Amino acid sequence: MRLFTVGPVACYPEVLKEMKQQMFSHRSQEYKKLHAETVELLQNFLETKNEVFLFSSTGSGFMEASVRNCVNKKMLCCICGSFGKRFADVATSNGKQIETIEPPLGEPITPDLLDQKLMKNPDIEAVSITHNETSVGLMNPLEELAAIAKEHGKLLFVDAVSSMGGTEIIVDKWDLDVCFSSSQKCFGVPPGLGVGSVSEEALKKSETIKNKGWYFDFKIWEKYQKQKGTPMTSVIPQIAGLNRILKMIEEKGGKKWFFNLYAERNQQIREGVEKLGLTLFPKSGYESPTVTCVNAPANIDGLEIYEKMRKKGFELAKGYGSIKNATFRIGNMGYIEFEDIHSMLEALGTVLVDLGWKR
Ligand SMILES: Cc1ncc(COP(=O)(O)O)c(C=O)c1O
Repeated sequence: MRLFTVGPVACYPEVLKEMKQQMFSHRSQEYKKLHAETVELLQNFLETKNEVFLFSSTGSGFMEASVRNCVNKKMLCCICGSFGKRFADVATSNGKQIETIEPPLGEPITPDLLDQKLMKNPDIEAVSITHNETSVGLMNPLEELAAIAKEHGKLLFVDAVSSMGGTEIIVDKWDLDVCFSSSQKCFGVPPGLGVGSVSEEALKKSETIKNKGWYFDFKIWEKYQKQKGTPMTSVIPQIAGLNRILKMIEEKGGKKWFFNLYAERNQQIREGVEKLGLTLFPKSGYESPTVTCVNAPANIDGLEIYEKMRKKGFELAKGYGSIKNATFRIGNMGYIEFEDIHSMLEALGTVLVDLGWKR
């Protein structure tokens, strides 16, 4: 099966090879070296001097962590789809009050919307933004939104689960307080590892928060980080895999090379589906560089397209949430060859004809 999923994605062969090595203790010298090196590679990749933590959890662990460490009473959740909604659920289930901005599905959060909301609600402590909303294939203008949040003096949490590694994020320049991702997306590593940067300001806020729990307490993580380790057992194979891909990116020409590779794949997919006569779900100009969310033609169920593509040997991604049947998605993260893109598009054309699609 050739994978055009939105995570877990197909892993790079070099990553899988690296992960096969025998285990060592997470308190050993071997681990400390691997840990410190991987943190440094990520800091360079994200252009940050902030702490970078390697959580033994998926990316959602960082949602919980940011809410528990950095919000006393109230935060603003920007919602463009299912994962923005998840951040809001994490906040309320941790007893926090929330304000929300929720434009119509397929539309981005604009700097104006954010500015107005923050002006009206000065008691908001922090803002969450989904950089790339995987459920609808939409990317928000993060740099501009971050500037607004900072003008208002708010902490900023960025869910970069399906964008980190696939497009530029400059943590220090953009002043992002918590910026996190998961191993199973753009880095093409198996699931189980959450990575995220945490600013000095976020760490300071964490000192003031009561009842923040233990597992994700940033201050405990900071303490262990100084000893090149983690409070609990690390997901060593995933960290070794991430270490390999980050080094591979450096060897092949750096992160710009990697972003261009993803952009090229994304463009070929987008042009291919448009050539077939299909349209994209998100508002023009905000399409995701890692996930193409395609409108299923009228009278054809997106789930049927997904199922028929599986039978032809291509795993795409089903539509998600309220647009589950009306769309299907094509990911371009992880290990994908260009020739597979061409054969996937060819198969999609055949599937649409089989389903009775007439332009
Ligand atoms: C934008 C976004 N945020 C959060 C998540 C949840 O990530 P995880 O399953 O690694 O916790 C996903 C997963 O697809 C996602 O795409």
